[in-house]
Amino acid sequence: MTAQPAHDQLVTDRSLLSTKAYGTGQHLAARQSLYQWQTPSHDLPGIVVNELADVRGAVADVGCGNGKFVARVRDDRPDLNVLPVDVSPGILGVIPGAVVADIQQLPIADGAVGAVLALHMLYHVEDQARAVKELSRVLPPGGIAIVSTNSQNDKRELEQLWRRAAGDVLGIQEGPARVQLSARFTLEDAPAILGTVFSEIRTIPLPGVIEVTDAEPVVAHLASYEAWADKMGVPFRETIERARERVNETIQAEGAFRVACLGGILVCQAPDR
Ligand SMILES: C[S@@+](CC[C@H](N)C(=O)[O-])C[C@H]1O[C@@H](n2cnc3c(N)ncnc32)[C@H](O)[C@@H]1O
Repeated sequence: MTAQPAHDQLVTDRSLLSTKAYGTGQHLAARQSLYQWQTPSHDLPGIVVNELADVRGAVADVGCGNGKFVARVRDDRPDLNVLPVDVSPGILGVIPGAVVADIQQLPIADGAVGAVLALHMLYHVEDQARAVKELSRVLPPGGIAIVSTNSQNDKRELEQLWRRAAGDVLGIQEGPARVQLSARFTLEDAPAILGTVFSEIRTIPLPGVIEVTDAEPVVAHLASYEAWADKMGVPFRETIERARERVNETIQAEGAFRVACLGGILVCQAPDR
């Protein structure tokens, strides 16, 4: 999908990111928790820990959000020195040792960390080329960057649900598309963007189907987009309530509401200097 400039500005708008979107961990937690209904379930923090098996010393988690991955790496690899970094101070809460910084200008010396994580965050970054160079700069040759995002085909059913619910509210067949965060850095585009700097890139695809028999987790996921959704010319609360009714109608008719997911992790090796 080709993202529109207005869409891009919303997804990278720093004042939205640090306040309504990630001023607290609430919205991110709603998005993360939907995956508990996914089959097969993928233990993303476990996969990251596995990929860190040969890493020693320091690891930076850039755009660490509510620290889900920081906590797991610290638990499973107490020998590593984990540096949590995020541009939104509010979401960092009480994560020990967290630093407020931008991936486009990391306060980390050249080659200082054995691995760097940039998980579900590069789509929010204005200058992705610069961010990717920063990820490589802080690694020694052979160090790894672990990046994640979603496919352009991820959760299409939620997109359709939103457009139809918005259409019902607006009295038209389909409302405008909602903001799609990963459209600025899809799983399909990521290898080319990362490949401008990194030599070897391995993709771990993570397909699955979310199946819920209660509308609430899906409604909470849609509501987590409030920071952007209420800027798209759609009455936000009414659309959320209409979406709830539509999900309940599907559950009654089909026994469940299903959403096909495709996310992925990219493991990138830093080149020789
Ligand atoms: C979708 S959350 C992902 C959080 C976490 N990595 C995860 O996967 O659970 C995106 C995070 O990236 C942060 N972020 C956005 N732009 C950033 C930037 N330019 N530099 C550092 N962090 C940024 C946001 O504040 C937010 O906490």
